[in-house]
Amino acid sequence: MTTAMDILVLGLMLVSSVLGQPPAENKTCYQGNQKTATECCPLPRMMEKAIADACNSKYKALSPRVPPGVRKTEGSCVTQCIFTTIGGFNEKNNTLNIEAIRKAILDTTASAKAFLPLLNNSINYCYPIISKDPQFLATPVSPIPERDGCSFLPPALMNCIKIDLFQKCPKNKWNNAPECQHLKEKISTGCSFSAIVSG
Ligand SMILES: *[C@@H]1O[C@H](CO)[C@@H](O)[C@H](O)[C@H]1NC(C)=O
Ligand SMILES: *[C@@H]1O[C@H](CO)[C@@H](O)[C@H](O)[C@H]1NC(C)=O
Ligand SMILES: *[C@@H]1O[C@H](CO)[C@@H](O)[C@H](O)[C@H]1NC(C)=O
Repeated sequence: MTTAMDILVLGLMLVSSVLGQPPAENKTCYQGNQKTATECCPLPRMMEKAIADACNSKYKALSPRVPPGVRKTEGSCVTQCIFTTIGGFNEKNNTLNIEAIRKAILDTTASAKAFLPLLNNSINYCYPIISKDPQFLATPVSPIPERDGCSFLPPALMNCIKIDLFQKCPKNKWNNAPECQHLKEKISTGCSFSAIVSG
């Protein structure tokens, strides 16, 4: 028999399963962007294409799209897969291995001369912030039964690094259009890199 108490307990369990996880992003972050991040500051590829492609094809069908402005219950499975492949993420204890991540990023970007002075500093700036933030350490919940939830940590680290590089974009890479300045301002109000990456 289902009692009011059962329903209350079930409701509390549903609420608590997403407690502590990152809040939904403001939908306006995705609106009114007249240039893409790449048109403003083309960032170098940071993870090997073959690895990214393999992870993409493995997780695309298993990762239902969450519309902008809706709270996510997990991070990106594609990014977690890339991190796991390079030895930068341990799925057993939800921890990043920053030296493996550093090596992968610095190896992949070795020919991106303009960004070389920035990359290691961005990694050193982002890792301590992201790896200790309780919202990214929260237990992820998968929206589908076919797999476990994917960690918030890998995409949060990549977001922080990309934002830092974008905001400090080298002069010879930066498109000084007002539409690009607008993206910088949005990022400074807390929008994610994902929100500005495509039009
Ligand atoms: C989203 O951002 C807009 C513009 O900055 C602001 O007016 C609005 O209150 C924000 N909404 C939420 C739910 O934070
Ligand atoms: C997580 O597991 C890895 C591999 O077993 C280990 O090297 C690392 O120290 C662990 N980290 C924490 C915080 O437990
Ligand atoms: C990157 O930063 C780490 C930590 O400060 C340092 O040990 C390392 O030598 C730096 N590597 C490069 C290529 O600058």
